[in-house]
Amino acid sequence: MSIVRQADRVRGFGTSIFAEISALAVQTGAVNLGQGFPDFAGPEWIKQAAAEAIGADHNQYPPYIGVPRLREAVAATWRAQGRRTIDPLSEVTVTSGATEALFAMMQALLNPGDEVLLFEPFYDAYVPDVVMAGGTPRVVALYPPKIADGSWWFDSNELAAACSAKTRLLLLNTPHNPTGKVFTRAELTQIAELCIANDVIVLADEVYDQLVFAGAEHISIATLPGMWERTLTINSMGKTFSLTGWKIGYSVGPAELNAALRSAHQWVTFSTATPLQIAAAVALESALGNGYYAQFRAEYAERYALLRRILEENGLPTLQTEGSYFVMADISNSGFPNDVAFCRWLTSEVGVAAIPPSAFYSDPTRAPLLARFCFAKKLETLHAAAERLRGAVRPA
Ligand SMILES: Cc1ncc(COP(=O)(O)O)c(C=O)c1O
Repeated sequence: MSIVRQADRVRGFGTSIFAEISALAVQTGAVNLGQGFPDFAGPEWIKQAAAEAIGADHNQYPPYIGVPRLREAVAATWRAQGRRTIDPLSEVTVTSGATEALFAMMQALLNPGDEVLLFEPFYDAYVPDVVMAGGTPRVVALYPPKIADGSWWFDSNELAAACSAKTRLLLLNTPHNPTGKVFTRAELTQIAELCIANDVIVLADEVYDQLVFAGAEHISIATLPGMWERTLTINSMGKTFSLTGWKIGYSVGPAELNAALRSAHQWVTFSTATPLQIAAAVALESALGNGYYAQFRAEYAERYALLRRILEENGLPTLQTEGSYFVMADISNSGFPNDVAFCRWLTSEVGVAAIPPSAFYSDPTRAPLLARFCFAKKLETLHAAAERLRGAVRPA
């Protein structure tokens, strides 16, 4: 019998398919299009700002709510993007990545038995976050597009039916991982009306807000009428500045929601790396005037177009990505019974790693036959994947 007895709240978690595919990719030398992070460096000028901050001895604990310069840069960014004028003292909190904000908010707002609405497929941390806080996840299906180059969609009756007197929170991720969906204004309005009518708080995970394509427009639900009061918008430097290892996240919302977040955050991590926060402030300040966002989007549009063409040319029809840095490919003709078997085979035999989206479903058998590929990769990495994919996938 084992000496270690895990608590009930974590016992079911196990290790994820992500860890398995990553290990398999290392073992077999596969081109890794599975993991959701860039294989290229973040901008030199931001790294330089971090080095300077360390050199200037900004190396002790920062204020637990975040260094003032970063909170001010977040407020300036919100203002410049036309979202809202916010108070950097009471309406912005810095956390260790978006991940910590999500965890801390569930701890701060959920009592045992409270229910949380999530669109399925969902980012993998959401359910553990809800469960660790004693809450109960309630999933609402996102369905694959009905037509070529259509959008993933949900049934508003199903959403309304999932909402009850026990519903406390709704988790909204737009642009959405793993589907690449960007929720439209009409959809956000339906969600907003439901949340207002049922007094539900929204956690809006917008870490891919700068990554939108194909004419899609990112809209923060917090900017819809009546929603500021009940929305915490969660973001991160990781995706937008290609610095996922820095784990600098920030949340924006009314003072009351920030106070809730801070009450948990002070006992989770308390604060996050001071010099990296200062460099993050430099990044946000400079990005407003140096054309960074336009260039960032243009580079990603090129990567997206290339990977989509590579997959299409090699027997893997793709679904349209409206936002995020993932593209889903249809594997229903590949002869595999499920996405896990396909992704294991692709990684170990073909030498290209992809993630099975069933990992993002509470019941994996509900997942359509798709595979998720990440295009936050150098063009040469994508070309290397193309070489390996050539002729590998044949219709069954
Ligand atoms: C939807 C979504 N939310 C949150 C995160 C985590 O963000 P961070 O690295 O800032 O903790 C990710 C990372 O993949 C993500 O895809």
